[in-house]
Order: sequence, then structure tokens, then C-alpha cells
Amino acid sequence: MCGIVGAVLREGSVLEGLLEGLRALEYRGYDSAGVAVGADGGVSIRRQAGRLEALESVLADGALEGARIGIGHTRWATHGPPTEINAHPHTDGGGRVALVHNGIIENYLELREELCGQGVEFLSATDTEVLAQLVGRELAAGAALVDAVRSTLARVRGYYAIAALAIDDDRALVCARQGPPLCLAVVAGGAFLASDPLALVRHTHELVFLEDGDVATLSPGSYAVVDAAGEKAERPAVEVELDEEQAGRGAFAHFMLKEIHEQPDVLARTAFDRIDEVEGDVRFTEEGWDAECLRSFDRVQLLACGTARYACQVAAFQLEGLAGIPADVDYASEFRYRSPRLSERTLALAISQSGETADTLAALRLARELGARAGAICNVPESSLVRAADCFLMTRAGPEIGVASTKAFVSQIVTSYLLSVAAGRARGNLDAGEGRALLEELRLLRPRLAQLLSRETHARIAEIAERHHEVKGFMFLGRGIHYPVALEGALKLKEISYMHAEGYPAGEMKHGPIALVEPGMTTVVIANKGPLAEKVRSNLEQVRARGGQVICVGSDAPSLALADEAVEIPETSPWLAPILSVAPLQLLAYEIALRRGCDIDKPRNLAKSVTVE
Ligand code: M6R
Repeated sequence: MCGIVGAVLREGSVLEGLLEGLRALEYRGYDSAGVAVGADGGVSIRRQAGRLEALESVLADGALEGARIGIGHTRWATHGPPTEINAHPHTDGGGRVALVHNGIIENYLELREELCGQGVEFLSATDTEVLAQLVGRELAAGAALVDAVRSTLARVRGYYAIAALAIDDDRALVCARQGPPLCLAVVAGGAFLASDPLALVRHTHELVFLEDGDVATLSPGSYAVVDAAGEKAERPAVEVELDEEQAGRGAFAHFMLKEIHEQPDVLARTAFDRIDEVEGDVRFTEEGWDAECLRSFDRVQLLACGTARYACQVAAFQLEGLAGIPADVDYASEFRYRSPRLSERTLALAISQSGETADTLAALRLARELGARAGAICNVPESSLVRAADCFLMTRAGPEIGVASTKAFVSQIVTSYLLSVAAGRARGNLDAGEGRALLEELRLLRPRLAQLLSRETHARIAEIAERHHEVKGFMFLGRGIHYPVALEGALKLKEISYMHAEGYPAGEMKHGPIALVEPGMTTVVIANKGPLAEKVRSNLEQVRARGGQVICVGSDAPSLALADEAVEIPETSPWLAPILSVAPLQLLAYEIALRRGCDIDKPRNLAKSVTVE
């Protein structure tokens, strides 16, 4: 949802560094981009609609080289289409300030009307321009930039991370945070800011994380922060573990493909050092998950959006089946709009890759207000969600750059499995032997997943994609714990290939969706061995009987034999089987999107973290 960067140097030129930062943040939004640099008592701004490359080619003339201060932005449009005029940075009528913004200003219309009434002319349709105009007016009245930003933000309602530079000052940048993340890297020769550590770790791994309400001033080699109350705040740098290699694409054509192939290692990283083989139990290093605590809940309320919500649905099966705790799942975006009944014996558990999803954050905060203990399963240690939670578990998936979530999903399912085993042990639902056997399944799963991602299976899925990439549409069917996998398979396909795809519980098909079945329509059926195998098989036959094409993914040999296309997956524990069922669906979506010429890592209209409601 937009990425912002800023840099101020003692000497040298900021431009290439700003662009490098924007390249690292492009996953956050990629419909337009821009930079502003301060030089010779003025500000030069360049903006372009489209991908960052469009901006880079405009900047190739070298006209902005040599400036020592600058800000940059990569946009995911919220107010106004992705045109050059709506791209950031924005400035005020008097050209006193340049400003970039990630988030939403909720009362911008009211402020805009007020300013228009005073004769201010707006050039763009954005909410951001209101901020630039307000800061500009404060500067015109003689305020310093930091004070101008503070008084402007005092008038604003919403979520934002902003960065601003004043044209008459090439020594200081000002930035502020209320909601979306913002971190700083300060080294002897300069100071840098960005929406994500990914854009900063090439300067230093010692980063400063701003908190909500903070306003910071950055100069080469130093920074100062004031908090929401206007008091000087100590925000010491903390060491961030982030492997720059991990953030690259390596030899893979796309981040998504790389991330799919990382899944066996992610599984190991998420789980193995948390397994206590002797006790048949789980040891979390994170606080707040001891046996007493795990016994204190009588219910779990899971909250998330998108793929993370499907992980919640899998988690609900695991928690109920292994730990015997009732578990409900809600869309984070809907949770606030009913009257949820929670108590101090409820664990509200939010799952999120980014930890910045606005709906998920708001839902968890509400659950906490209503008396529940707020837990989080998250991939980003410094995220807002982790900070907002009473207790959290890290998924350790490493940076996920592809907009379509893959390895994060697997790491979330592994984490909820660990939590379910730990809760089962703590609550006496599982004995040590059962715990040991369940945890051993995780160790066995890694080679099975690696085998499933082999060249042979990938080639087989590519052949299937070749035959199905132009069909009318897709339906994905699964039962029990595989129903969320069917939803995830459909979401992956529609996100990156723009094909219509629906996920259904297999038994629900006959209540309506079966009307869609006809030649030219493909149904993907997840059919594993086990108590539901026969029922799924009969659903598969119902599709075949109506001329529908069936791709079967699973371990149930008779179902595989009935289908037009079959992808066999190894057997594993039913509680972990979604990890094996989803991998072929990820590859299928990838191969179909490839054949349809789609931009796999940056699908249209999407952004990696959705920091608006
Ligand atoms: O960062 P989060 O896990 O909170 O994100 C939630 C969803 O926005 C995310 O899973 C989205 O659905 C992905 N694009 C799915 O591939």
C-alpha cells in the first residue's frame, strides 16, 4: 500500500539510493512512482504513471544527480487514478514543501473544502495534497518544517506514514507515523527512512522503528524523535536480522516461484528448533504460551484477511482436533461490524504475513478492548500487529516479496499446528507419545514437500496448465481441512492469472455451483485418502458426468484414476496435509499466469500489504 523512502547525505548524491530503496519497496504498490530532491534552494520533482522503470527512464537524463536530500514514493492508488498528476511527491501551491504519503487521510474532503474556500487550488485528486498544502501554509507563516508537520497532523484523522522536505533546507528531512510502518537507518554520512527494513539494510542492520504518533527529524548522522504528546522520545536502534540474499530473486524467474520452492526450508525454520522430542511437546521462545496460559482459554477467535484467513480456517481444524478448543474464524474486515462476544478466557488470534493489514490490526485491537487476550501469528517481528499483541508467535518465513502469498501460508499452518500440539499437551488432550508422533510428522513432511516440488511434478503441472489456461473458468473443491485449500487455490489463480475461479466445500457443489459445470469449465478436486475420500470421489464423478474437466490433486488413487488430469501427492498427517495439497495449486496458478502473460509478482490492482480498510 505505497512505499516511501527518504535520504539526507553529508556528501554525494541521493538519487540512486532513493531508486534502490523504491525497487525494494515496489511490492507495496506499483501503479506510479516519483521522487523529489532538494538542490540549489529549490525542489525538483519527477513523477511517472506506471512501473518504477518508467520513472527511471525519465531520470536517466541525470538532471537530478548531485542532490543531497530527497524523498521517493511508489504508489497503490487510493484517491484518484494512477496518473502522473496523482503520483507522489505532492507539493503546496507555493512550492515550499514536497511530501510523500502512505495511508489514508480520512477527513481530507473536509480539509480540502476548507482550503478551497480560502482560495487554494488543488492539482490532484489525492488526499495527500491536502497535507502538502497544510504544511506549506505553516511554512509560509514561518514555522520550522517539523512544527509545520506536527500542526498539520494535529488536524488530520487517518492512517499515515509521511516524509517531507522543505525547499529552503537541504539538511533535514521530517517524517511521521500513525499506523503504517516507518523505520530509520542513521549512519555517519547520512540518514535514511523507509516503509520497510528491506529498503534500509544495505546501509545498516541497526534500525530505528518509529511508533504511532512519532514525528522524527533526520540529518546526516543524527535523528530526533518527538512522540504524540510532543515530548522528546528515545527510540534506540535495534538489530534487524535480514539476509539481503533472502530478499533477492536468485536464479528464479519470479519471487513467487522462489518462495514456493523455499517452502521445505521454511517448514524446517518455523518448526524444528521448537520441537521437544523427549517430552513430545513444543517449546516456544516467545513469551506468553506456557502451559498455564494455554489451559486458561476456553475458546479461540481467529481473525485475518485473504490467504491468512484460509490459514485461520486450517488452524481452527487443528485447534479443535488436537487441542479440543472451540475455534471460530472471522474475516477481520467483518468482525467489527457484528457484536462479538468475547471474554478474558478467549484467545483472539490474528494471523498475518505482514502484520500491517489494517483490518486485521483493527479487529485484534477490538478483541483486546472486549477483554480477550490478543495473540498474533506473524512473519514480521517489528510489525504493528506484533506490537499490538499481548503475545505472538513468529512464523519465520523470511521476506515474502511476491504479492501472491505462498510460503507465508505454509509457515502459518505449521505455526498453528505447533500451537495446537502445545495446547493439546497442556490441556491433557494429547499424551507425550501422541505429541511425539505428531511432531515427528513435521520432520517427515519436509522431504515429502521437497519431493512434491521436484522438477518432474512441476513439469507435469506445466503440461496441465498448457491444456487449461484458456478455459472459461475454474472451480476448486475440497472437504474438511482441504476446503480452505480449495479457497486458497482459487484465490491464487484469480490473483495472478485474472481467471475466474471459485472455491467451494465439495459437498456444497450440488446446491448451486454445479450449474456452472459444462465442457470447457475446469474443476480442481482435492482428494486425499481418509474418511472423506469416498464422498469427494462422488463429487468428482458428478462433475465428470456433466462433461466438466477434472484436475485431481491428492493421495486417493481411485479419485486420481477418475480424473482427466492427476497430480499425486504423498500421504502425511491429515492436520498437515493442506501443506502438500496447496503446493501443486500454487504451481498451477503460476504456470497458468505465465501462459497468460501476466505480471506474476505484481498482479494488477493488488499490493502486498493492505494498510487501508
Ligand atoms: O499480510 P497479511 O497476511 O495480513 O495479508 C492478508 C491478505 O492481504 C493477503 O493474504 C492477500 O490475500 C494475498 N495477496 C494473498 O495472496
